[in-house]
Amino acid sequence: MTLQRFTTKLKDGTEVLAREATIHDAAEMIQCVKTYVAESKYMVVLPEEFSLTLHQGREWIQAFIEADNSLLMVAEVNGAIVGNLDITGAKRQRIMHNGMIGMGMLPDYRRKGLGSVLLKAGIDWATHNPYLQRLWLQVIAANQPAIELYKKFGFEQEGLQKNFIKTGEGTYADNLIMGLPLNKTA
Ligand SMILES: CC(C)(COP(=O)(O)OP(=O)(O)OC[C@H]1O[C@@H](n2cnc3c(N)ncnc32)[C@H](O)[C@@H]1OP(=O)(O)O)[C@@H](O)C(=O)NCCC(=O)NCCS
Repeated sequence: MTLQRFTTKLKDGTEVLAREATIHDAAEMIQCVKTYVAESKYMVVLPEEFSLTLHQGREWIQAFIEADNSLLMVAEVNGAIVGNLDITGAKRQRIMHNGMIGMGMLPDYRRKGLGSVLLKAGIDWATHNPYLQRLWLQVIAANQPAIELYKKFGFEQEGLQKNFIKTGEGTYADNLIMGLPLNKTA
């Protein structure tokens, strides 16, 4: 299901274009995700593990385009990709009403409302998607900025996996599972 592209202004006046990713975005998307993965201490994937080739990046984007219950949305400022939100719909019939959210953005664009813009657009898209009935996500329990953002849009904690993430020798972090039922009558 396609996403209608739109522009909006962030709290500081920056104009942002939100649109669906195409395979031509592969190189820039890889770079953007690599940058925020390397910078954030709250990502499960390590920078060295996020090592897609251009070909793999194109395949990754193509998989979103082909799946009816999935979406890869990018945020663009002055023609450059600065963040993304993805919804990965489950493939098996019994769980394909569930879409898993992932998101992030470059440090310079945080706390300006971009996360809210992307998440709201993702929820709206999912609400109109004929397959999806629930959104869910995983987040490191210490990632307060992300948890606050998700709560703001109605996500609630559905589970907690103790010591799920190994942060160092003998140090661990808990993993939260959060979910949002979609209001299909909206
Ligand atoms: C998490 C993330 C996507 C939030 O995006 P954002 O654009 O900064 O979020 P917004 O500016 O829209 O903020 C939305 C709400 O989240 C909360 N919030 C955001 N950043 C916060 C911070 N640093 N501390 C506390 N609360 C914060 C606030 O409640 C805020 O609401 P308000 O604007 O009404 O005060 C962004 O910080 C990010 O990309 N982090 C790195 C990657 C990551 O952690 N991804 C999520 C993995 S699960």
